[in-house]
Amino acid sequence: MVKGPLDGIRVIDFSRFMIGPLATTILGDMGADVIMIEDPLSRSAAAGWYNQRANDKRRLYGALQRNKRSIFLDLKQPRGREILHKLVKSADVVVDEFRPGAMKRLGADYPTLKKLNPRIVACSMSGYGQTGPYRDIPGFDPNWLAVSGFLDLFGASNGEYVLPGAPVGDYTCTMFGVVGIMMALYMREKTGKGQFVDVGAADALTYWVGARHWPLWLAEAKKPLRGKRCTNIWRTKDGGHMVFSFGIKVFWDRFVEATGIDKKYLEYWEDRGSGEVVDYLPNAARIKTRIAESNAAVQKAMLTHTRDEWARIFKKADVCFSPVYDLAESINDPHLKARDMVVEFKHPSGKKVIQVGNPIKLSGASSSIRLPAPKAGEHTAAVLKEIGFSAKDIQALNKAGVTG
Ligand SMILES: CC(C)(COP(=O)(O)OP(=O)(O)OC[C@H]1O[C@@H](n2cnc3c(N)ncnc32)[C@H](O)[C@@H]1OP(=O)(O)O)[C@@H](O)C(=O)NCCC(=O)NCCS
Repeated sequence: MVKGPLDGIRVIDFSRFMIGPLATTILGDMGADVIMIEDPLSRSAAAGWYNQRANDKRRLYGALQRNKRSIFLDLKQPRGREILHKLVKSADVVVDEFRPGAMKRLGADYPTLKKLNPRIVACSMSGYGQTGPYRDIPGFDPNWLAVSGFLDLFGASNGEYVLPGAPVGDYTCTMFGVVGIMMALYMREKTGKGQFVDVGAADALTYWVGARHWPLWLAEAKKPLRGKRCTNIWRTKDGGHMVFSFGIKVFWDRFVEATGIDKKYLEYWEDRGSGEVVDYLPNAARIKTRIAESNAAVQKAMLTHTRDEWARIFKKADVCFSPVYDLAESINDPHLKARDMVVEFKHPSGKKVIQVGNPIKLSGASSSIRLPAPKAGEHTAAVLKEIGFSAKDIQALNKAGVTG
């Protein structure tokens, strides 16, 4: 079986929540051997989050633990550390998402790892990074959304803030973490040495906000307006919704044509296109009136057909439209299925299981689902054997509570 581009790379994974496990899933999908280190005493608040011990349906369908093996290792015991240090010698990457300092207390901080294996790439993905005044503050997605200014871009411009329904800040950190790991592995090819990768979720989101939204503020001292984009979501006859991204004039023109609204609205593009800066323009009041007028005309037209009827019309018209899906519709979407984003594999229990596919499509290799989510500690004996422990040692370690 083609395992993927990271076949031969071993990853030791201390992460449990979202940022880290998603990153190591990406690496595992691409062929890496990911070994999760589980605390037999579940001392971390994170231990229960994905409920490693429960063999419930969610784990069956969950992608966050697939392609990973799990071992128990009590790192507060010297023998647990010895085992970890042995394992590190056979590894390429170590990932954690503890608060700064926890890895040192576990005897697994980068200076220690580097002494054991100078080729190791250690990546800490945390909320605020390893330095700076916030580094010790615990946190979750909304915290980094807030600090980075990302949250200030959502919701009605004069209304309450709205939290996105998914932890987009965590996902951002995941992606930068994976990119950082790949860069360090690439550099290792040239230097023969590993390095430490420090990625903070607040930094990751700030990068996004800074790249797109800082210029208006820095150049003209104007704050980006919350919830303002030159796009809209419309209700259709059947109670469905359709989203349009006009972006450039040609799509507005085609949209006006396809909806059959008055041709005078073709001229309104200039105003609609001003999107997120409208309040700052000298003729803001007039622009707002014209946007409201064209919005009312579009909404009236949209109520004359069902969502799927409009989808056919807009496909023909070549505009940037999408029906707004719920999860069930998304999972059944023919395009996403054709892109292998909805994949089926045979679980060892005999069940056919659907999980999300990997979005990275390489022409020279492929991602795969080789292992289902493990039970906590499922692979302890197998991994210990691989790194040289005898059956007798393994039994003794288990009895002493080091690995079980
Ligand atoms: C998620 C978070 C809030 C949890 O905080 P927490 O419950 O205080 O716990 P931590 O995960 O930092 O540390 C847990 C403890 O378990 C211990 N532990 C973890 N694995 C262990 C093992 N295998 N053996 C022994 N002890 C272990 C750690 O050493 C630590 O103990 P210590 O502080 O006494 O040294 C915190 O880790 C954090 O802010 N992380 C960064 C951001 C993040 O990932 N947020 C979640 C995004 S979805």
